[in-house]
Amino acid sequence: MQQNILVIGGSGFIGSRLVNALSLGNHFVTVPTRRRQRARHLVQLPLVDVVETDIHDDAKLARLVAGHDAVVNLVGILQGRRGQPYGPDFARAHVELPRRIAAACAQHGVRRVVHMSALGADVNGPSMYLRSKGAGEAALRAQDGIDLTVFRPSVVFGPEDNFLNTFARLQRVFPVVPLAGAKTRFAPVYVGDVVTAFFNSLVGPQARDTIGQTYELCGPGTYTLAELVRLSGQWARVGGGCGRAILALPDALGRLQARLMELAPGTPVMSRDNLDSMQVDSVCSGALPGFVPALGVPHPESLEAMAPTYLDPKFQESEYGGMRATAGR
Ligand SMILES: NC(=O)c1ccc[n+]([C@@H]2O[C@H](COP(=O)([O-])OP(=O)(O)OC[C@H]3O[C@@H](n4cnc5c(N)ncnc54)[C@H](OP(=O)(O)O)[C@@H]3O)[C@@H](O)[C@H]2O)c1
Repeated sequence: MQQNILVIGGSGFIGSRLVNALSLGNHFVTVPTRRRQRARHLVQLPLVDVVETDIHDDAKLARLVAGHDAVVNLVGILQGRRGQPYGPDFARAHVELPRRIAAACAQHGVRRVVHMSALGADVNGPSMYLRSKGAGEAALRAQDGIDLTVFRPSVVFGPEDNFLNTFARLQRVFPVVPLAGAKTRFAPVYVGDVVTAFFNSLVGPQARDTIGQTYELCGPGTYTLAELVRLSGQWARVGGGCGRAILALPDALGRLQARLMELAPGTPVMSRDNLDSMQVDSVCSGALPGFVPALGVPHPESLEAMAPTYLDPKFQESEYGGMRATAGR
């Protein structure tokens, strides 16, 4: 059945793909954005309405939510001002916003809510990011009158990712990569698989089975951060295909490096809070379900099958790579 779906955070890396999939599936999609420019790559899609608005304003959020069959929340930030338990920026984006979305949904009779959290989300976690993601989940679960599904992926990879692409870019510039958290383990999951899971939990044949569930999403392989950096360099054909040398930093030096990166203008590649997140491995715990059949991903894609293609300089220079640049992504 054709649905009317509000995708908050729909202009981002994962959201754009989900919006594409829903549009292709003949569903109406509304995408709010702070700046229309950020979502210009979605404007031409059939059945997609991009709305420039402020989702942090209660009245505007209520107007957006009303009349939809389902609401997806994909808003997330990786950096924020420091504070306990998570500082004002994480509080606003990861805790207050989900709480307000849940309240608006309950108030306007929109039962279905699908929320993006992160692997390791925990109110007692080691970082502001993980604590705020945990508190956001708790705020949603505390709301009566909504049918909630929560996803907790490990790091997500795909052509526009900010993870492997960043490691590849750094290695094109620097001869050595000084790396903090080198031993932290990740189970990278392909963006297409994450999107399929969201799609099926919203409009798939077994969508109702996913209500009330929290899923951990991991890819088939586990890698240390150092391995991921090395592979990114090799697949991006840096240093004749060998990648750059990686210098694993001891904790104190890693923190100093993160502190200096925070002081530089722009978004830091690695902040102290990112390092705090990496005190726990980003791998599936096994305590929660993963890619169950209802999510429609029987065989999650491996890093080896996907990443070498899009990290390859030929792909980056291709028409598609050019399109990404035009879209500002
Ligand atoms: N990518 C990963 O590896 C990964 C792993 C685990 C969990 N996640 C979670 O998955 C979700 C989506 O990730 P992504 O990589 O697709 O993120 P992304 O590309 O950075 O997109 C983030 C989206 O959130 C919106 N947004 C960001 N900050 C906001 C704010 N302060 N107020 C309102 N809107 C804001 C942006 O909208 P506009 O700029 O258009 O307003 C954008 O659409 C996030 O919740 C993230 O924590 C991601």
